[in-house]
Amino acid sequence: MPKERIKIALTKGRVEQQVIPLLEAAGIDCSLVRNKKRRLIFDSTSQPYEFILAKGPDVTTFLERGAADIGIVGSDILTEHQSTQYELLDLGVGECQFVLASTSDFDPRAPRRKIIGTKYPLITQRYFDQLGQDVEIIKIEGSVELAPLTGLADAIVDITETGTTLRENHLQIYDYLQPVSTRLVVNRLALKQHQQAIYELVDRLAAVVSSPSSKESVK
Ligand code: PRP
Repeated sequence: MPKERIKIALTKGRVEQQVIPLLEAAGIDCSLVRNKKRRLIFDSTSQPYEFILAKGPDVTTFLERGAADIGIVGSDILTEHQSTQYELLDLGVGECQFVLASTSDFDPRAPRRKIIGTKYPLITQRYFDQLGQDVEIIKIEGSVELAPLTGLADAIVDITETGTTLRENHLQIYDYLQPVSTRLVVNRLALKQHQQAIYELVDRLAAVVSSPSSKESVK
């Protein structure tokens, strides 16, 4: 087994599916992660990388606490969790947008105090602060679209990628906040300890990301 071990925390789900082809194109064997079943940690004897699969917010926690050396996670989560580690690469996948959305009868200019449902209270607060609007924010853990449909909130701030979830639930976009994409982030101490190995990996991935075929490989 190679002596130097680099722990990579990879966000489960969509990020995982889009990033694995990039990692493979960079020469990293992801066969164990591809055939994962219910396993969460993948260590291989043939390469210096160990993969941890976790939810996005937990990837930032692993990284902040040094339980992972590298995190692969959306910029939405890095911003919301105020990550202080080094962001070294935009992987150019997981591209989506933060939007303000609601039902067709929502009036964003109505003078009354609005109730906003979101998984991202900090980003939502900053957005409405910039608008000079005082709002009530309700934190929701998933399927945020339910909030305006059930009367829990007047509108939502959420990410949209294909727009399918909004469309299928008859919600419309009232404003665009900020773009989101998947980033590679490195723990500050890990970068000092494994500088050469980490930069070598980042350079290989950067070459894949900048090649014209990289977007095709994740479709
Ligand atoms: C995100 C987001 C929307 C959906 C939008 O949810 O919160 O619900 O994706 O994607 P679309 O524009 O491609 O339809 P996610 O899939 O992460 O699940 P969650 O709602 O359970 O958090």
